[in-house]
Amino acid sequence: MNNINVIALSGSLRKASYTTKLANAFIKAAPAGVSIELVDISLLPLINEDLETDLPEPVRMLREQVQAADAVLLATPEYNRSYTPALKNALDWASRPSGHNCWNGKPAAIVGCSPFTLGGFGAVHHLRQVLVYLNMPAMQQPEFYLQLIADKMNDKGEITDQSTREHIDKFWGAFVVWIRLVNAK
Ligand SMILES: Cc1cc2nc3c(=O)[nH]c(=O)nc-3n(C[C@H](O)[C@H](O)[C@H](O)COP(=O)(O)O)c2cc1C
Repeated sequence: MNNINVIALSGSLRKASYTTKLANAFIKAAPAGVSIELVDISLLPLINEDLETDLPEPVRMLREQVQAADAVLLATPEYNRSYTPALKNALDWASRPSGHNCWNGKPAAIVGCSPFTLGGFGAVHHLRQVLVYLNMPAMQQPEFYLQLIADKMNDKGEITDQSTREHIDKFWGAFVVWIRLVNAK
């Protein structure tokens, strides 16, 4: 595998989302040899098996993007100690119809964040559980929980905190190794 194609999903649909800004910071910090784009999950209808006979266009697009990707970066805020319905909706759509799970075997990494102190810990761990069933090998270390995110980026979403920047680079280094390892099988 030469160039690695990664897709990033943000679990927040909010225009001023910290999570989307964090996903964009990861995109900006992507190492050489990695192409990465943010997938728009805001136009997906709410999951409904009735729609599976004629998949809506945003669902088709998502499925194509997932199928073409070598790996998936999932960024999530925490909603009531879990990840968000928007992210679950995207995961569910690309897992359907039954027997056509596009996520199957895709290496993944999860980053959690919060303007508060837990850094999205609950969200990340609920998400890990679902990735097990989707058969997505999720990188275990290093973990990424960014607490107090509002203090660590400027208005443009650039990370101003040096240790966070270093952790993003370290995370990317490990993720590239993980992607190559999983996809070599
Ligand atoms: C329904 C809901 C539940 C929330 N629950 C949590 C929570 O469990 N833990 C937490 O740290 N923040 C929680 N928050 C606050 C979010 O962390 C905060 O709104 C954050 O900015 C959302 O991410 P975003 O900026 O990417 O949209 C919750 C927000 C919403 C809307």
